[in-house]
Amino acid sequence: MMVDPTHTSGDIMVAATSQATTQHAWSPTSWRSRTAVQQPAYADAAALDRAVAQLHELPPLVTSWEVLALKRKLAEAQEGRCFLLQGGDCAESFADCTSPIISNRLKVLLQMSLVLVHGLKLPVVRVGRFAGQYAKPRSADTETRDGVTLPCYRGDIVNAPEFTAAAREPDPRRLIEAHSRSALTMNFVRALIDGGFADLHHPEYWDLEWVRHSPLQDEYQRMVEAIGEAVRFMETLAGESPAYQKVDFYTSHEALLLNYEGAVTREVPRNPGWFNLSTHFPWIGMRTAQLDGAHVEYCRGIQNPMGLKLGPGVKPDQLLRTIDALNPDNEPGRLTLITRMGAAKVEAELPPHLRAVKAEGKRVLWCCDPMHGNGETLPSGVKTRRFENIRAELDHAFDIHAACGTRLGGVHLELTGENVTECLGGARDLTEADLARAYKSTVDPRLNYEQSLEIAMLIVRKRGGR
Ligand code: PEP
Ligand code: CO
Repeated sequence: MMVDPTHTSGDIMVAATSQATTQHAWSPTSWRSRTAVQQPAYADAAALDRAVAQLHELPPLVTSWEVLALKRKLAEAQEGRCFLLQGGDCAESFADCTSPIISNRLKVLLQMSLVLVHGLKLPVVRVGRFAGQYAKPRSADTETRDGVTLPCYRGDIVNAPEFTAAAREPDPRRLIEAHSRSALTMNFVRALIDGGFADLHHPEYWDLEWVRHSPLQDEYQRMVEAIGEAVRFMETLAGESPAYQKVDFYTSHEALLLNYEGAVTREVPRNPGWFNLSTHFPWIGMRTAQLDGAHVEYCRGIQNPMGLKLGPGVKPDQLLRTIDALNPDNEPGRLTLITRMGAAKVEAELPPHLRAVKAEGKRVLWCCDPMHGNGETLPSGVKTRRFENIRAELDHAFDIHAACGTRLGGVHLELTGENVTECLGGARDLTEADLARAYKSTVDPRLNYEQSLEIAMLIVRKRGGR
């Protein structure tokens, strides 16, 4: 029988102290004793309770076995035996839960992973930022336009982006809708992969129509042919192998909306502990990483491997204490530190963390998110990121890790398979004038396919052969 954690009224909890190192009883609702930032203000508490109760009854989207398998792979990545590729939209939208958008995003990630496998000569752990990435942290609770102030848009799991009072009202029914769309996405991704979409014999399935004439196409084509030959060679020696017919895919999202995350946190019959069974890999965003805050409290109690975003301004000692709270047993694969310093700050901000974590013997996987420290708003008001800055942060991160004797074992990107023009630069050198052509994101600007593939090639050039 499944325990109903959110609605257990008599939770016994030791009074929360601001000393997160003092381990008190954890439950899927113990986060409520802490300050939870970035949560919507629902007007109708009874409607929220109904939605949360309904979520409790819905079947999980992933299994504990998959979650633990991913943890083992991330432990491998920590040791340099594979490389983590994590990517997808900044935020999924309900409207984008369509066949072409899901399959194109999968294609880009598969192509990037092919480039990485070929160039790094390492297995790649593929983790999509999808099937649940519906909640967004915001820099302000409200937005004002022409003298009118409304609640900010917090992602489709909370409200809608249109600037009307009705659209911006947080609606708890959206929690159920987000869960359903996550399940639809997950179902389609699983069906594609099981159906042979990810078969290494047929990388041509992953071609995207609009990039036929891309400047990167020749280099990519040569890799596809080399891999095809390698697969045929191996099969001549060893016989047909299922290993080439299927790749693993995992999902991730920011564990932001704690009513949702708590309601999908379950115990299972054969694996001990509590699992967030809405995703394999939740992460804590930079704005919600307070050591004594509700997000760290929630995450410390689940068995999933997890990410922690790390931005400028955090002191190494603060990081070490957060690591202790989230991974007190120093378990391999448990914690991935996703650094997002920005190209201008990475050289000053990253080394002290690398040295401190190394000196303390903390087992973590280091991953670089070269997107979130490199946002800028143009004079026209458009939010963008420059490819050269994204590239530079990644480039520096590899060099800094090499100099500190640590290992950069993964990359975290915001990308899409659509032909969008949201980030400046890249192979086709998108300019400010191009941004107006196909800017679709309602939140952060994403790399399009070509720009994503170029990043994969850059990683290979930087790290390949090491
Ligand atoms: C994100 O990953 O979309 C995000 C908001 O990142 P960060 O928490 O690093 O700012
Ligand atoms: Co983002």
